[in-house]
Amino acid sequence: MSKLNVDIKPVRDIISKFGDGQDSNLIAILQQSQDAYGYLPKTALKEISRLTDIPLTRIFGVVTFYSQFALIPRGKHAIKVCSGTACHVKGADDVKQKMKDILNVGEGETTPDYQFTLETVACIGTCFLAPVMMIDERYFGKLTADKASDIVQKYSEKTQE
Ligand code: FES
Repeated sequence: MSKLNVDIKPVRDIISKFGDGQDSNLIAILQQSQDAYGYLPKTALKEISRLTDIPLTRIFGVVTFYSQFALIPRGKHAIKVCSGTACHVKGADDVKQKMKDILNVGEGETTPDYQFTLETVACIGTCFLAPVMMIDERYFGKLTADKASDIVQKYSEKTQE
């Protein structure tokens, strides 16, 4: 796999905004860095460590503890297929399989063009809409495999516009 070239300027700008108290702002620094890069490149984490004097092992500890942080590039859109009981009973497996087929990725994987990351999540609290998936912050319910496929297709077309 080729090494990605990472511009560390964004991380420097983010850290300079915090001035003193960078230690207590580590999570905010990581969140803003992730917003800037779409994930947390190792080069950026090393730069955070160097500029804040926070040991890299501690930074990695925080990053791996919170599920909001990603160490590998993620897609522009996160597709989360619910695998809770209500959704499972109503056919979530078909929806998930369809997503894998059309995107050609497995669970937790990202498409090569970095448009979509496919995830399975536990009940997302809208069981009355089962089976449900989320794309980014939007809910799509009462899905069939074909309906889900059409929705993702629309996102795909929007992205290419
Ligand atoms: S089980 Fe899927 S939303 Fe509750």
